Amino acid sequence: MFKIAALISGGGSNLQSVIDAIEKKDLPAEIGIVISDREAAGLERAGKYGIPCRLLNRKDYGNTLSDEILKIIPADTDLILLAGYLSILSREFIEKWQRRIINIHPSLLPDFGGKGMYGMKVHQAVLQASRKESGCTVHYVDSGIDTGNILGQKTVPVLPDDTAEQLQNRVLIQEHILVVESIRKIIKNKQ
Ligand code: GRF
Repeated sequence: MFKIAALISGGGSNLQSVIDAIEKKDLPAEIGIVISDREAAGLERAGKYGIPCRLLNRKDYGNTLSDEILKIIPADTDLILLAGYLSILSREFIEKWQRRIINIHPSLLPDFGGKGMYGMKVHQAVLQASRKESGCTVHYVDSGIDTGNILGQKTVPVLPDDTAEQLQNRVLIQEHILVVESIRKIIKNKQ
């Protein structure tokens, strides 16, 4: 079975959509471990399904966080999913798992990506730039920030008078669909 390790930092709604797809047998995969770099609601979500969960608090590990995560990722992992994971992974980490790490970003990359572009900041920047369209991207992770090869994107309209929260919610719905589609695509290509 195709094995996923998920790294999270927050609510884990993207993780939930992957769990749901697996439960519904829409995705031939299993989640071998969920690792969070801070106290996060996503850990509870995963725990409910009996998925092994680990909290490696970034405050305790600082610069060695990636090394510690490397130690606990099961060797038979096929894909590392960054599902709202906010810490930066070390070069060694990325090299070791090259082409096997994907990230979900809440904009149409390459626009509104890079250092400091995460969470609500992305949506605020989209509104500030008066864009008519936004969306989300799933991409492979390379040593840059949000620069890896793009696996898929989905667009949403930016509506007049949108708040950043409204835009975020609209984009998040598409993230949930895109993340599952992207993993499905990777599994298919592997077969
Ligand atoms: C999402 O907007 C995702 O694009 C970004 O972090 C957020 C995480 O949401 N990387 P969740 O934790 O999956 O609910």
